[in-house]
Amino acid sequence: MREFPRTLDYSGLNTPIGAEYELPGLEVEGRIPADVEGVFFRATPDPAFPPYMEDSGAVLSGDGMISAIRFSRGQVSFAIRYVQTERHKAEVAAGRALFGKYRNPFTDRPEVRGVDRTVANTTPVWHAGRLLMTKEDGRPYQIDPRTLETLGRYDFGGKLRSQTVTAHVRIDPETGEMFFYGYEADGLASNKVAYCVADQRGHLISEQWFDAPYCAMMHDFTITQNYALFPIYPTTCDLQRLEAGGDHWIHEMQRDSWVGVMPRYGRVSEMRWFRGPKGVSCYHMMNAFEDGEGRIQFDQCLSAVNAFPFIQRASGLNIPPGETGSRLERWTIDLNDGSDSVVATVIGPPGDFPVIAAVDQGRPYTRAWMLTMNPDMQGPPVAGGPVGAMFNLLLRLDLTGQPPQALGLASAHCFNEPVHVPASVPGHEGWLLTVVDQQTGPADFRHSVWVVDAGNLASGPVARIRIPHRLRPQVHGWWVSAAALAVHS
Ligand SMILES: [Fe+2]
Repeated sequence: MREFPRTLDYSGLNTPIGAEYELPGLEVEGRIPADVEGVFFRATPDPAFPPYMEDSGAVLSGDGMISAIRFSRGQVSFAIRYVQTERHKAEVAAGRALFGKYRNPFTDRPEVRGVDRTVANTTPVWHAGRLLMTKEDGRPYQIDPRTLETLGRYDFGGKLRSQTVTAHVRIDPETGEMFFYGYEADGLASNKVAYCVADQRGHLISEQWFDAPYCAMMHDFTITQNYALFPIYPTTCDLQRLEAGGDHWIHEMQRDSWVGVMPRYGRVSEMRWFRGPKGVSCYHMMNAFEDGEGRIQFDQCLSAVNAFPFIQRASGLNIPPGETGSRLERWTIDLNDGSDSVVATVIGPPGDFPVIAAVDQGRPYTRAWMLTMNPDMQGPPVAGGPVGAMFNLLLRLDLTGQPPQALGLASAHCFNEPVHVPASVPGHEGWLLTVVDQQTGPADFRHSVWVVDAGNLASGPVARIRIPHRLRPQVHGWWVSAAALAVHS
């Protein structure tokens, strides 16, 4: 019998499920557009075993599970499996947890010393015919996209030197190259960062290391057509704290943020560092582009403090979720005026989980989507996820100055991060796929996949697919078209 602690990390929407299953022939309400032909892969962490010690960051350490929602000629099926990480296999063999606190190997049981401790639970990344389950504290695991079987750890054919790979890669829509990085690249609390490029066939063609200003949580980065941007926010790690059994991260409000900017095909020795505001934090970046006047415009879901309650507590901070100063903020970086700082402008609302069309990556863009809180909602948001409150309003932002479109949910409902599916009809903005959770009791939920017209949110979902099984909150997802899958099958 699995007995988990009675905390927010393990209750309500976050209640562990621990089941692998397949659900063929799901009931479809409405009509699925012909463009929606492929697979919506999702990362949904789910701890297989109760922890043996208190861990404030446990919500980020659930074992990686990959799920696939397959769309084929109007039919939909669902499947979910554990990622067979070294950690998961060791714990299954023992029948109990063997790894201790979030990103602190000094708290592990001695018998697993040296065992890869990543849970590969953050983003399913598709590139060059490979499906990788990623988490920023380790190397990815390769997954068979048809069976969801784990094929093993992935190190680009033995070429990768970095011990870590980010869960947030950027793929250039014209060249097909994948740009990525790993931080703490040579070990815990290190400020070494590996900047990597894989070509359109998935071959690692460049890996260069540089020193970040300090060891920071580098959850995301971004590219333009000619540059790579490495933002650094002051959520920091300290080896002595880890050795003493402490938390991996604390947030330092008095420390500067930075953005490293280098030509994306250049040398790391060309990196220029631009200073940002003190104390700010960002998990996800919307996009970046060159504006034709020698400036880079870099858009991010920024907050005035790290939004994760467990990191705030470790830092002596305690700021309610609605008061973290969250906003979509543009940092303008002028490469020619001799300045070494950014100019910040608020361009959008609070929120997170930014989504852009793949073709807009690194380019000037006019539309984007994100999740936020419905200001008109009656009652509290659904509790769940790492922040403790789930989003319930989907926005389409118009970056030319027109008002946003919104799709709000009734109380006791919430959105998971959408993926964007491009349309075949020119001028159509495509579709968003998102899982909507509905809380029907203290530990009871109903779940559906919604298909929404990305250019017409207000009309509501064009199709809803009920998933008759409990689901855990999703971290990130990835859309892979049937055509892309077929090329590589
Ligand atoms: Fe993320």
